[in-house]
Amino acid sequence: MNLKGRSFLTLKDFSTEEIEYLIDLAADLKAKKKQGITGSSLKGKNIALIFEKPSTRTRCAFTVGCIDEGGHPEYLGKDDIQLGYKESVEDTARVLGRMFDGIEFRGFKQETVEKLAKYSGVPVWNGLTDSYHPTQILADFLTLKEQFGHLKGLHFVYTGDGRNNMANSLMIGSSKLGLHFTILAPKSLWPGEELVTLCKAYAKDSQGTITITDELEAVKGADAIYTDVWCSMGEEALAAERIALLKPFQVNQQLMDKTGKDNTIFLHCLPAVKGNEVTEDVFEKHADVVFDEAENRMHTIKAVMVATLGN
Ligand code: CP
Ligand code: NVA
Repeated sequence: MNLKGRSFLTLKDFSTEEIEYLIDLAADLKAKKKQGITGSSLKGKNIALIFEKPSTRTRCAFTVGCIDEGGHPEYLGKDDIQLGYKESVEDTARVLGRMFDGIEFRGFKQETVEKLAKYSGVPVWNGLTDSYHPTQILADFLTLKEQFGHLKGLHFVYTGDGRNNMANSLMIGSSKLGLHFTILAPKSLWPGEELVTLCKAYAKDSQGTITITDELEAVKGADAIYTDVWCSMGEEALAAERIALLKPFQVNQQLMDKTGKDNTIFLHCLPAVKGNEVTEDVFEKHADVVFDEAENRMHTIKAVMVATLGN
């Protein structure tokens, strides 16, 4: 599998085999790191980490993953550079592309990460935009694979804000990898028709299915239940409205019981607002797997950098 020079902007751009390859590479890098073995595939490479929005996991994963492989990461926060206000995205991209070998971007518009890729001439990795969060999906799927040994055929339910970056990216990833994926959300927060249609076509090829519903009974038989914050970064003003709308879609013990299974796992991309999208008791009961998932951000992001930029 050769992904050298490729950007990682959305999972739409990657085939089933390419996504599976990145997950397996991450598992391999993780096993090596557990034995104290790190690599040198990013030796001599400099990586720019642009963050318009805050981050714990993604920033740390890119930093540690890069250093583990011998590279140098440089953090550029929103007040450090003039991206998009005093200097255009196109010009910033052309400057950074002359100095850096790869660029991570987290921020608002998907268009920005696409422009960075177009104008920098180096691999660009999406560390979250309003539309997508593709590196998170690799960590989620690595965690599912660790728990169940496979991905194809798993019944995977996402509940909460059904049209945010996580819902969109989980739907793309699940439909490419043959999972039975359900978005459980109030109708006003269902994903865009166009993306659902595209994912249904992917699912047809992978023997997966996509279901969008507001019926809580849809969790029956779920192998995994996933949720995310009710207000994504930048949406804080909507808190009261979202709490009222999403309260019935909270992951609590009653919802977990509705699966009818005693081995359903709970996943969350984090950060979590306990008491909103998930109760403290459900979160703590499943904390080991949730923090495996957080750790897996590092191994999977390292895999993306190694695959697209490594020697
Ligand atoms: N899950 C995730 O992206 O976490 P951060 O916002 O801390 O990077
Ligand atoms: N939907 C969340 C994901 C955080 C990792 C947000 O965009 O804030």
